[in-house]
Amino acid sequence: MKLMCGNANKPLAQAIADSLDAPLSNVEIEAFADGELFVRIDENMRGEDVFIIQSTSKPANDNLMELLICMDALTRASARRITAVIPYFGYARQDRKTGGRTPITAKLVANLIAGAGAHRVLTLDLHAGQIQGFFDIPTDNLFATPVIENDIRRNYDAKDLMIVSPDVGGVVRARSLAGRLGADIAIVDKRRPRPGVAEVMNIIGDVEGRRCIIFDDIIDSGGTLCNAAAALKQRGAKEVAAYITHGVLSGKAVSRIADSEMTELVVTDSIDVTEKLAGAKNVRALSVAPLLAEAIRRIANDESVSKLFD
Ligand code: R5P
Repeated sequence: MKLMCGNANKPLAQAIADSLDAPLSNVEIEAFADGELFVRIDENMRGEDVFIIQSTSKPANDNLMELLICMDALTRASARRITAVIPYFGYARQDRKTGGRTPITAKLVANLIAGAGAHRVLTLDLHAGQIQGFFDIPTDNLFATPVIENDIRRNYDAKDLMIVSPDVGGVVRARSLAGRLGADIAIVDKRRPRPGVAEVMNIIGDVEGRRCIIFDDIIDSGGTLCNAAAALKQRGAKEVAAYITHGVLSGKAVSRIADSEMTELVVTDSIDVTEKLAGAKNVRALSVAPLLAEAIRRIANDESVSKLFD
């Protein structure tokens, strides 16, 4: 087995390598003056089972191209099997036509990944489970829920706990976490009058006097989360916190969270948030490295990964 990574999330790749007690192979990635990328893998890959760890987070297009070019280099270097380990699969929110003459970019990206040479994909909390079907190669979509559940158990009293989905699309995810914790769920009825603007219409469920934990897959601008938190407080929630798998955290998201009614936001390290969280008042990160490392170990040994979905 060989492990390698691009530039998207080196701390996570190193943590995965440490968990597996295996080194990261050396890869040189250089950019030409016009922005084109060049990759050279510094060791023999012939006949190897290679896992390339690369989130397609910001800069999404550069990180995606790094992943594609690395896989092309691996194919041409006669790697036996290539698994694209994509902790955060960018472009996932473009998973359907939202109007006339619009693309389904998540499908395009899936085609590019398979076309560049991936034999398998390992990912985490896809925005919509159906995106697995965009790949015609085996795709394991892990859930961060067990990691999040453990952290909630360590830090929150189960009494009065309520798991809140910030929109209708996240209900299945919220129900799964609530089921594991034995908590109730509430649902925020969110509308997007235009891209980037989120409005809360209603809250389904009685949140008065409850400790609410909002659970979602992505925090981008923070609009969805801060609006949901304000609406929950307005309806009498005693406390509001949030757990979100992928900390995209664009623009002023971190300071927006600091100024919000939330006690804290917890994200995972599926995206490298080290710089964004430096000095953050109420945002922290949990590591999904042990979870991804265990999945990689099982795939490399042809063992079942389904236990990781329990
Ligand atoms: C949308 O369906 C996603 O699950 C997130 O709720 C959304 O992407 C968050 O975006 P923002 O933080 O910009 O409101």
